[in-house]
Amino acid sequence: MHLLFVGDVHGKPGRRILRERLPRLRSRFGAQLVVANGENAAGGAGINAGVIEEILAAGVDVVTGGNHTWQQRDAYELLDAEPRLLRPLNFPPGTPGRGATTATARDGTRVGVLNAQGRVFMPAAVEDPFRGVRAEVERLREEIRVIIVDIHAEATSEKVALGWYLDGLVSAVIGTHTHVQTADERVLPKGTAYITDVGMTGPTEGVIGVDRDVILQRFLQQMPVRFEPAKGPAALHGAVVSVDPDSGRALDIRRLRVPA
Ligand SMILES: [Fe+2]
Repeated sequence: MHLLFVGDVHGKPGRRILRERLPRLRSRFGAQLVVANGENAAGGAGINAGVIEEILAAGVDVVTGGNHTWQQRDAYELLDAEPRLLRPLNFPPGTPGRGATTATARDGTRVGVLNAQGRVFMPAAVEDPFRGVRAEVERLREEIRVIIVDIHAEATSEKVALGWYLDGLVSAVIGTHTHVQTADERVLPKGTAYITDVGMTGPTEGVIGVDRDVILQRFLQQMPVRFEPAKGPAALHGAVVSVDPDSGRALDIRRLRVPA
């Protein structure tokens, strides 16, 4: 079976290219399930009810999150109410929402989707993503073989380490957050597909999605600025993972880049 992971959908330009391109990509790759990171989908920071509806309507089955998940006013209620929306599982107990879910792929296979956040160079002091993910994977593996993990993290080393830690236990470990696709996709020896960062689905003419003038002002003046998504063309980045549905082993991972 084929799973499509779409990298961080950034603002309206990201949502537009997702809507325009996803249906064809889905059929071209025979994707039975689509996961997209949506933590920057609403105006470049967070997610809200209208935006998640739009992303799901575009053909996404599960939406993952990250450090910006909380930033829109209705996010807390939404996280509790919408089972197809995840936030990182390693936030402290009592945090709204959930960090793992199961979804049924179009071929009937049940797929576990997990979302975790890294701790290196990240703003929130979240709990251990390694042990947190592992505990959830062990619980899911009693019933499910095909499991995909979105590790939302800054540091390459932390993501690579998590890939090795989960090799053979999950079908794919997909990195998000840095918005620049890395060229290190591979299937690890025990059958886990891995990529350090899958890249962004959003505007190409800014600084990792944000208006470049705003970011330059921030670097030059060192004063707080209000982030806005960049204008202009957008690209879609992602990865297609082929998995044996019975064992959950990944057979292949391919990077995807769809320019504007
Ligand atoms: Fe992020």
